[in-house]
Amino acid sequence: MEHQRILILDFGSQYTQLIARRIREAGVYSEIMPFTASWTEIASRNPQGIILSGGPDSAQEEDSPHPDPALYGFEGPILGICYGMQLLALRGGGRVEPGERREFGRSELTIDAHAAGSSELFREVPSSSVVWMSHGDHVASAPQGYRVLAHSTNVIGAIGDEANKRYALQFHPEVAHTEQGATILRNFLFNICGCRGDWTPASFSQEAVAAARGRIGDGHAICGLSGGIDSTVAALLVHQAVGDRLTCIFVDNGLLRKDEFEEVLAHFRQHLHLNVVGVDSRRRFWDALRDVEDPERKRKIIGEHFIRVFEQEAAKLGRVEFLVQGTLYPDVIESVSVRGPSAVIKSHHNVGGLPERMSLSLVEPLRHLFKDEVRRVGRQLGLSNEFVQRQPFPGPGLAVRILGAVTPERIAVLQEADRIVDQEIREAGLYERIWQSFAVLLPIRSVGVMGDDRTYENALAVRAVNSLDGMTADWVELPYKVLGRISSRIVNEVRGINRVVYDITSKPPGTIEWE
Ligand code: XMP
Repeated sequence: MEHQRILILDFGSQYTQLIARRIREAGVYSEIMPFTASWTEIASRNPQGIILSGGPDSAQEEDSPHPDPALYGFEGPILGICYGMQLLALRGGGRVEPGERREFGRSELTIDAHAAGSSELFREVPSSSVVWMSHGDHVASAPQGYRVLAHSTNVIGAIGDEANKRYALQFHPEVAHTEQGATILRNFLFNICGCRGDWTPASFSQEAVAAARGRIGDGHAICGLSGGIDSTVAALLVHQAVGDRLTCIFVDNGLLRKDEFEEVLAHFRQHLHLNVVGVDSRRRFWDALRDVEDPERKRKIIGEHFIRVFEQEAAKLGRVEFLVQGTLYPDVIESVSVRGPSAVIKSHHNVGGLPERMSLSLVEPLRHLFKDEVRRVGRQLGLSNEFVQRQPFPGPGLAVRILGAVTPERIAVLQEADRIVDQEIREAGLYERIWQSFAVLLPIRSVGVMGDDRTYENALAVRAVNSLDGMTADWVELPYKVLGRISSRIVNEVRGINRVVYDITSKPPGTIEWE
């Protein structure tokens, strides 16, 4: 079934994906396209409504980004947010004034009296509420055909040309700090665009299973499991479609958390009934990493060996035509880099090139989903809450959490310490409220005392961060009590560590992992 969709044209705002997620949370399928998309491309998606996102530019500057002008002839509703508002205003002949500084902040929105009762966009929104406002350019006078619908303390907060279904907001309805944001978006979706709200995890699962069945037919598929939610949900969907003609491969690269391989393998087989080949390749990875200190080389080596192990195992299976991958929507969206391409900071795509090398066709059942949607689909498919809530874990595993050379001994030390961090964070009821919490083994030794003896052992860093998507992150203010327990347990229980420090760096300027 074709879902109704809302199309979001991306002008480079950091919040574009959040807009898409909020719309989907309301039960309406949404897609993001770069602002450079032609009107033909946009129209071919048959959108029920279009949203113009915010962006870092000033709409009045000469080379500021503009959509294909044919877009303005769209017969359906258009909602402009921040930069998108300036575009609509300028297009309609309104006046836009530069703001003093370009920043976001809390503001009070007042719905204008005449709009309060009549505007579809603000139906059931109280006349005054807190919004998260962009203090960049703002609309100084409403363009022809528009009326002002709301004000903030200093500027016009919302305008609308209701006869032509054009609306624009100076603030961000998608961010959680905007109190009535969800209601305003829902008003746009349901009252103005006439959406039905047919996008649910259950409907998605059914369609994904049918699509995989259609694509794979009588063929055979393989899937590399990482122990994470994405590959697991992708495998479960395809397993529902083709049963044991899907073989999963789960490789122990010797860089997983303590006992993780055995525990996760048992879970896959016994609870999820997946057909899984478990491969113990620990020695191979450890040998390949001997004396390697450079983080990017570690990643490359791990990625290459994973591909080779995977190929070897696949070759044993005989006929295989399809490779299942848990690629998510954020990896598929053509990102807008209004400010030029951003540098590749770390090479995260550890297994790039696999399908080409093995000449397999890709099956990517999650390529339209955001992470939170994958979790919902996972729950709907019967994954336990514990599994669904697992914190992200990097593909190269503990190798990027052992600074300097990776040896089996150092891995064992880190695994012990990491387990304690994990236990204490869970014990304190914090695990599900934290994006990632883990230990990092440092290549530093320091002096300590233990009883009457002087020790000279490793230092270990504990890291806990909160994040929405891993792109930016804040260090977590863990209670001192929890930090204290982690520290004393590690120093007492883990041989080889005599000092624990807590990392209080956010991202940027730090990264989440230390390598
Ligand atoms: P950084 O360290 O770049 O990490 O702030 C952002 C997020 O990505 C994870 N990460 C990786 N994931 N392969 C992965 O699959 C990698 O090489 C890799 N490096 C970092 C990290 O755990 C965090 O969630």
